[in-house]
Amino acid sequence: MKSVASLSIATTIGIMFLASVTRISHRGVAAFTSTSSRSKSIVQLSKSSAFRSTSSLFAEGGGRVSAAVQDKNVLDKTNEKTNKKKQQPKLNTNPPKGTRDFYPEDMRLRNWLFDQWREVAKQYGFSEYDAPVLESESLYTRKAGEEVTQQLYNFEDKGERMVALRPEMTPSLARMVMAKKGGLPLPFKWFSIPQCWRYERMTRGRRREHYQWNMDIWGVAGEEADAELLSAMVTFFESVGLTSEDVGIKINSRLVISEILTELGIPPEKFAATCVLVDKLEKVPLDAIQGDLEEIGLDRSVVERLTSVLTVNSIEGIREVLGEDSEAVKQISNLLGLCKTYGIEDWILFDASVVRGLSYYTGAVFEAFDRKGVLRAIAGGGRYDKLLETFGGDPTPAAGFGFGDAVIVELLKERNLLPSFSSTGVDTVVFAMGPDLYPAAIEVASKLRKSGQKVDLVLEKTKKTKWVFKHADRLGAKYCAIIGTEEFENKEVNIKNLGDGEQKKVSVNELSSWVEEQAN
Ligand code: HAM
Repeated sequence: MKSVASLSIATTIGIMFLASVTRISHRGVAAFTSTSSRSKSIVQLSKSSAFRSTSSLFAEGGGRVSAAVQDKNVLDKTNEKTNKKKQQPKLNTNPPKGTRDFYPEDMRLRNWLFDQWREVAKQYGFSEYDAPVLESESLYTRKAGEEVTQQLYNFEDKGERMVALRPEMTPSLARMVMAKKGGLPLPFKWFSIPQCWRYERMTRGRRREHYQWNMDIWGVAGEEADAELLSAMVTFFESVGLTSEDVGIKINSRLVISEILTELGIPPEKFAATCVLVDKLEKVPLDAIQGDLEEIGLDRSVVERLTSVLTVNSIEGIREVLGEDSEAVKQISNLLGLCKTYGIEDWILFDASVVRGLSYYTGAVFEAFDRKGVLRAIAGGGRYDKLLETFGGDPTPAAGFGFGDAVIVELLKERNLLPSFSSTGVDTVVFAMGPDLYPAAIEVASKLRKSGQKVDLVLEKTKKTKWVFKHADRLGAKYCAIIGTEEFENKEVNIKNLGDGEQKKVSVNELSSWVEEQAN
């Protein structure tokens, strides 16, 4: 039999928590139904988080406590008198530093570029994927001293989780592969065009957000995957009108560094950090990274030996240093041979100094560059056979590249290879010459749209014909379809070809045939 005390609690619960019953924690419910003494139940229940939070809701008027209610300045903020006195500062219309707005014309350019990337990816049998722009910070906190981890846009979210805007896509891809617990049939070829965020020092072609075409092949250990990726990259360059005189792709293998470290007796754990450090040497003198050197416990002489080998710029030279049996030499030779078979050898050159700055590359690395040497790296990538293992997954070979939107657009602009994006793609502007004719204009626009045209219907009924022609010109439209009283009475529309200025009357019922004629 229930005691009075327990009944009263039950009643209180019933009244107070009916609406929020689902919010009572299991701990709280267990305390209430426990067979131990009723008074103990009461104490336990009152201590449970459900009880605490709900009773505080009551104290504040029975609703959920919003951030605004908790804000002590809320009265100030809503007080009209105070607000009138304070002048709102004028909105800064610039987007945050290093980021871009995409007005329609910029958007047309962006879509055009993405279309080229998508087209090539599909031509090579790649499937598109995506992931959230927000990831757990831990996905990127590698300890090799990479720039990319120092440039993270990271913060604590409202749930006290450390998160980051993705600086690159590869870790997300690895996470997605791992999430399937070996359930993804290998090999696979996937591509993506993510927006990536890096708190970079701004230079030409480097910004704080960029879109990056990613092409990756998982499950193929041989150089065949690397060569296929390089061929796709070249196909893209060719599709936008660039030649091997404009762009080159340097290739190398990190096995070169690995073999020298082995020869010098340096443990393999230092491999990744050494590669990152050697990459920095391209931009800063050795003295400037003395601290980094000490941190990874490398002798200056090791780095000097590495840099002396990495300045050798022929495969024969590297063969001389590493010997005939060197895996690195075999790998690079094989890759160069495959590139020849693809017919892309004019684009490719071996350069032992290319290491790339990301710690996870293990084998081949590549970098597309502007042959004039004006712009920064156009694209970069390589083989990262151990990335999944670093996340606790099974060893799985993988290779890929990332190709940013900023540098390629600069390059295409410089070489005059960008098409014009001023036209909106509108075929016909439809205009009624008076308010009474507007329903007829809707009918004409609908018919044209259903026949496959892109149509801009002039929505204001007071516009003059002169304005309409100017407007159509601004849009880059091909035709103007005008409905006047006479045309309306004859169930016709007057269509002006804005290219040659010719005009003709077309019956409203024959609009779809007219559209077909124009398309042929
Ligand atoms: P990454 O070398 O750091 O590689 O970047 C690849 C490309 O993204 C660069 O060559 C450049 O085109 C572009 N990029 C990078 N940072 C910026 C920036 N701040 N502003 C404009 N463009 C930029 C990676 O991110 C690897 N996850 C690529 C990869 C995919 N490796 C294997 N699969």
